[in-house]
Amino acid sequence: MTVDHVVSLAYLIAALAFINALRGLSSHESAQRGNTSGIIGMVIALGATIWLALSAGGGHPAILTFLLIVAAMGIGAVIGIRAGKRVEMTGMPELIALLHSFVGLAAVLVGYNSFIVSGVESGAMARFHAGEIYLGVFIGAVTFTGSIVAYLKFSEKMKSAPLMLPKRNWINLVTIIIVAIFMILFILANSTWLASIWLILMTVLALALGFHLVAAIGGGDMPVVVSMLNSYSGWAAAAAGFMLDNDLLIITGALVGSSGAYLSYIMCKAMNRSFVSVILGGFGDTGGPVEGKDYGSHTEITAAELAAELRQAGKVVITPGYGMAVAQAQNAVADLTAKLRAEGVDVSFGIHPVAGRLPGHMNVLLAEAKVPYDIVFEMDEINDDFGDVDVVLVIGANDTVNPAAEEPGSPIAGMPVLKVWEAKRVIVFKRSMGNAGYAGVQNPLFFNDNTDMLLGDAKASVSAINAEL
Ligand code: TAP
Repeated sequence: MTVDHVVSLAYLIAALAFINALRGLSSHESAQRGNTSGIIGMVIALGATIWLALSAGGGHPAILTFLLIVAAMGIGAVIGIRAGKRVEMTGMPELIALLHSFVGLAAVLVGYNSFIVSGVESGAMARFHAGEIYLGVFIGAVTFTGSIVAYLKFSEKMKSAPLMLPKRNWINLVTIIIVAIFMILFILANSTWLASIWLILMTVLALALGFHLVAAIGGGDMPVVVSMLNSYSGWAAAAAGFMLDNDLLIITGALVGSSGAYLSYIMCKAMNRSFVSVILGGFGDTGGPVEGKDYGSHTEITAAELAAELRQAGKVVITPGYGMAVAQAQNAVADLTAKLRAEGVDVSFGIHPVAGRLPGHMNVLLAEAKVPYDIVFEMDEINDDFGDVDVVLVIGANDTVNPAAEEPGSPIAGMPVLKVWEAKRVIVFKRSMGNAGYAGVQNPLFFNDNTDMLLGDAKASVSAINAEL
């Protein structure tokens, strides 16, 4: 058996481990097993690839190749471990966006390297290879700037409102047509310098397109952007796999590309938006202070009054949102749940698919606080049952429980929301009446007769109720 055979076998095993990892990640109970499978796959893949690089030589002494790999991995590991340790759960989307930009940049660099090494060659296969390089650089460049813009928006270094250039869809369409024409010219070019010109011009256009595509998406559509860029980064990696003739990179890229695309589809469905309209952008607001429409006045409740009310309740549903993550209130919420259940109250959770700032955000926090999985329900599982609920505790959620989504003309019109207002009583935990949710839309729920506000930091409020109980 040659090195190539062993490496191919290792790649096959790694690919199966990655597929198994995705399977595991589809439910809470098996997620940890899925992660372990992914780690094993990655160790096998890295080991095999390093071995392949060392045995291929490529004109360098193996020790130099080895030292270069170790140095690159060492620098990457130090940065990665530092970033991973420092990042808060609420900062995850921006970190993920930044990591996607690296994948995009890597695909661009691999593409340019491939072009420099091969230059312009004749023959059908060479033309095919040129097409791979071109597409790889294109997808990589779009992913790179798109991800940087997403990072800037998530970290609030850039306004999250959509950039609404006049005729923006035409700008995108014309750019794509020009890119396609340049592709033909690049593939048919018979001199390296001519081909370089088309490649460089396309790269500039692709960088601008990536910037514009994501800059045009705003507000509530940003979650879809994370998974869309995840998908793009997968396709960029697959394209790099074609250029490097690396089967595992092709398989892994395709897995990431297709799972990201599927996740984007599920999230669009959850927000009742078409994927095409999300990509074309122009939706969503800045999330700034609320607009002036007068919904009347709100009423407030104290922790002590609420504790007394909860004791009497038969059925309580908690709908957490981004504010629970900001306040790091998940442990206090888990304590409250345990206390109420011990008193015989039926407590469950209703989780909106885009509650928080990343897919599964609330589920992860609740799992971390050891809230039993069997009382945590998805929106679709619980949304018809609010009529039977005595008290709903809306802990740091806003857009995801906003009845304005049912009003035509509202910026979040059509987005499915948790129908908490159908419950007998609703208590909303938030810090003040001055701030809107992520989409920047006022929430009429706060002014309903059956709603009381418990103003203050969610962790402090829930802890105060716990103390009363
Ligand atoms: P949001 O609409 O963002 O509302 C958060 C609420 O939490 C606000 O009412 C805020 O009011 C309150 N809050 C913040 N800090 C708090 C604290 N320390 N204590 C108590 N309350 C606090 O949250 P949501 O309902 O979870 O909706 C999520 C939104 O984010 C959606 O629009 C969604 O599209 C978007 N988004 C989601 C994702 C993913 S993938 N989940 C990614 C990006 C964006 P105060 O400021 O007054 O306290």
